[in-house]
Formats: sequence, C-alpha cells, structure tokens
Amino acid sequence: MIYIYLEGHNFRYEIYELVKVFSFDEEIIFVDNIDDYKEGILIKNRVYDSNGQVGTITQIYENDKLVYESIRHSIEDIKIDRGDYDKKLRVCIKQGIYEGLTKISRVEAPWGILTGIRPVKIVHNLIDDEVDDDSILNILIEEYKLYQEKAELILNIGKKQRKYLYPLDENRFSLYVAIPFCPTRCIYCSFPSCNINRYGHLVDKYTDHLIYEIGKIAELMDTKTISTVYIGGGTPTAISSDNLERIIRSIYSNFGRNNIKEITVEAGRPDTMDYEMLEMLYANGIERISINPQTMNDKTLKIIGRKHTSQDIIDVYFQAKEIGFDIINMDLIIGLPSEGVGEVRETLAKLEELDPENLTVHTLSVKRGSKFRDTMEKYQIESQEVIEKMLDETRMFAKKMNLEPYYLYRQKQIMGNFENIGYSKLGKECIYNIIMMEEKETVMAAGMGAVSKIFFPKENRIERVPNVKSIEEYLGRIDEMIERKAKVLTL
Ligand SMILES: C[S@@+](CC[C@H](N)C(=O)[O-])C[C@H]1O[C@@H](n2cnc3c(N)ncnc32)[C@H](O)[C@@H]1O
Ligand code: SF4
Repeated sequence: MIYIYLEGHNFRYEIYELVKVFSFDEEIIFVDNIDDYKEGILIKNRVYDSNGQVGTITQIYENDKLVYESIRHSIEDIKIDRGDYDKKLRVCIKQGIYEGLTKISRVEAPWGILTGIRPVKIVHNLIDDEVDDDSILNILIEEYKLYQEKAELILNIGKKQRKYLYPLDENRFSLYVAIPFCPTRCIYCSFPSCNINRYGHLVDKYTDHLIYEIGKIAELMDTKTISTVYIGGGTPTAISSDNLERIIRSIYSNFGRNNIKEITVEAGRPDTMDYEMLEMLYANGIERISINPQTMNDKTLKIIGRKHTSQDIIDVYFQAKEIGFDIINMDLIIGLPSEGVGEVRETLAKLEELDPENLTVHTLSVKRGSKFRDTMEKYQIESQEVIEKMLDETRMFAKKMNLEPYYLYRQKQIMGNFENIGYSKLGKECIYNIIMMEEKETVMAAGMGAVSKIFFPKENRIERVPNVKSIEEYLGRIDEMIERKAKVLTL
C-alpha cells in the first residue's frame, strides 16, 4: 500500500498517475490525516511560501523511516514551455516525487514525469514558441526528466509532423466513421464494439443511422473543408461488403471523393476479409487499409481470442497487394501473454517478407474492462527489461525496413511504461493518425462510441463531444448526438 499526504495543494490526479508508473498494481491512497498512515510507503509533499518564494518539499518514508528528502526552493527555477504558475508548480512537485521514487524503486520511467497520452504535443508547443532544438531537448530531459532517447524520438517525430499540421486552419476538418462490430472480442481489448454474431441483426439499421449522421455532419460542416477520412472500429470489414459500400458511397456523395485528401479503412482482421471485400474497397477508391497480425505466432493468436492464423494474414496481405492496394498498415502488440523476444523475432521475420508500408507497434496496455485484466494471473507477464528488449527488436526491424517513426502515443496501464509508435515508409504516413493524435484539427465523428473533437486554434483548445457507447442507445438517440455537435460548433 502506498500512502500519499499532500499539504498546500491538491494535484491528486497527476500525482496518482505518476506514482502508478512506479507501482503497477499496488493500492495508492491519499490521506488527509497523517495518522492514517500505518505501514508501507508514505509520500509527503508540501508546498510552502517563504517571503513570496514558493517551493516544495518531498519526503518518502518506508515503514516509518525517512528514506528520501528533497527541497526545491523556488518554482521559478523551472524552465518549461508556456510556464504559467500552476504548470510550474505541478512540474516542481512532480519532479520531487519522481526523483524520490527513482531512488527507492527499481522501475524505470523513461518518460520521466510525463503521464499523459500525447507527449509530442509538448514539442509542438515549444516549436510554436520558436524554441530551438537544443533547448527543446534540454527542457524535455532536465525539466520533464525524459530519457535522452525518448526526448530525441519525440523531437524528431514532432518535426516530421509539422508539414501535415501547419498552418493551422479552423475551417479544415477530418471525418471519423465508427463501425463497432467484431467477430470475437480479443482479450486485451476494451474498445466499444459489438459481437457481430450477437448484434448482426442490427447492422442494416446501424448502417442507415450512420449514413444519416454522416449526412447531418456534412450539413453542419458545409462551409468548411474536409481533409482526411478514417473508417475505424471495431472492425469495419466485419459487416457485409454491401453495407460498408453504402457507407463509403455516402461519404463521397456528402463530401466529394476529390475533396478528400486521404481515406483509410481499418480492415483489421483477416477473418473479416475476402477477395470480394478487398475488391469492393479498392473499386471505391480506398487507398489505405490495415491488416493487423498483432503477432504472427499462432499459439498466441489463439490465446488472445483472434480466430485467424498467421497464414490467413499472409494470404489476405498478398491478395490485397495483387488487387493493387498501395499502402497497407500492420498493427503489432508487444507484451502479449506467452510472448518473449524469440516470438517477437519470429513475427518480425514473417513481416519482413510482406514489407508493409506502415507498421504500428503497440505495447500491451492492461485495460480495465478487458478479459485480460480479469484473468491476468493466469499468464506470465514479462518484466520491463524483456519488454524493452522486444521493443528494441521492433525498432531495429523498422530501421532495416526503412520505416520511420511518425506518430507516437501512450496509454494508461501500458506495460513497462513504454509507448505506441507508428512507423512509415517515407511519404506514406497516415495523416489522419497525426491529426487525431496531435489534436490540431477538428475531427467530426459519426457512429457508436465515436468522439468528435472540435478544435479552437486561437485558444489551442479541443472540445470533446462523445457519442454514446451502446448500440441501442445510439440507434435511439441519433438526433441528440447530432445536436450535441451542432451546439459545440456554434460556441
Ligand atoms: C481499435 S483496434 C482496431 C483494429 C482491428 N479491429 C483489429 O483488431 O485488427 C486498433 C489497434 O489497437 C491495438 N490495441 C487494442 N487494444 C490494445 C491494448 N489493450 N493494448 C495495446 N494495443 C491495443 C491493436 O493493435 C489494434 O489493432
Ligand atoms: S482488437 Fe480489434 S478485433 Fe479485437 S476486439 Fe478490439 S476492435 Fe475488435
């Protein structure tokens, strides 16, 4: 059990997230009264004001014995981007706690005090403020405590993304269309999605509603310019080719195929794709698809509940190439149960023969609401060191295949405190992924569980407008979903 006692501030959420980095499954509790601490670890953090100079003190106790103490005399010494008082104070507090935890724990925290999902955003803010590269690295390493390699990685990614994001334009938007059906649920997954075998009878109705919502979004956005479209899920190819075609055609009739700069379909699982489906997508001008192995190890595919083999992946991949798809992405997950460095090497060796244009390497995130979370004790979980080795294999593989990192994000409960990296061959980057991750353009989203994000560039602010996550609710409350978006757009 880890106890936390705060004095002079109440940044509970961020401190909780930071402490979690070091203690994956230990219970963390905040106490208002120091006498509630009984045994185990106690983290004390106090903000004080001495003649107008604000500083912080951090102390860590293990079974009542002081094991770490540090004082930061002035928050003004913190040099960060857009350093408003609150932000500096938060960074100062987190630095003290981070340093203390690195002293008492053997867990590595390569992302330093950062616990958010989108670390590249910091780089964009610094570049916007005309901070030079060396100073950006210095801030990331000295203030945010990133490992040098992570700091260099996000600086390079940020710089690569600039041409796709800038100049900012409040009249430009992307469209996300959710098709939340899957043939089975993978054990690690917590995305809102319905089993097609159970909810198949609702697909026609869902398609009608989705097309209706797409039409209404087009009306709301008729003075704006569309940039990219992403049809995701779930697994969009889990529904019939006819329904998916109706959806794609409705996008074109509402927005005009020629106005769309990029359109992607998350095809995903090979057990939802056949020749007819692939031909339909290609004939309808879909440029990019994903065919996701997660792993090429058949034993693991069974464990994670995917009803396909690695050979199915290979077959569908070559079919898609034969039909003419120019850009295929493949998703992998590192840290899957029963996988170590050997399995990852085998997966990569198989992918080498396929030579995809994009590769997205996720680190397993143990999500609440996933089957894996509830049955974790059945599996061997690899150490942080082994996960790092597996990720190193993917980095080396990407380099060898001329795949460069172009977007990055992190997730809560991500194993080993690592990250997810999207790699691409030069010029084949998926612009939608960059836009969605960096939140510098409005994304209008249609469908169950889809989240619209309206961007206000002047304030560098995003307003989230989520659709409901249950299919019945979505079908019953479609007009409300549209009204919610309309309301925020007129703010
Ligand atoms: C929304 S899923 C859709 C993909 C498609 N349905 C499929 O499974 O091939 C996008 C990707 O997120 C990744 N993913 C899902 N859950 C994850 C988790 N708990 N940890 C890490 N990656 C995860 C998988 O690589 C997956 O391909
Ligand atoms: S990973 Fe993909 S196929 Fe598996 S349950 Fe999640 S969305 Fe569906």
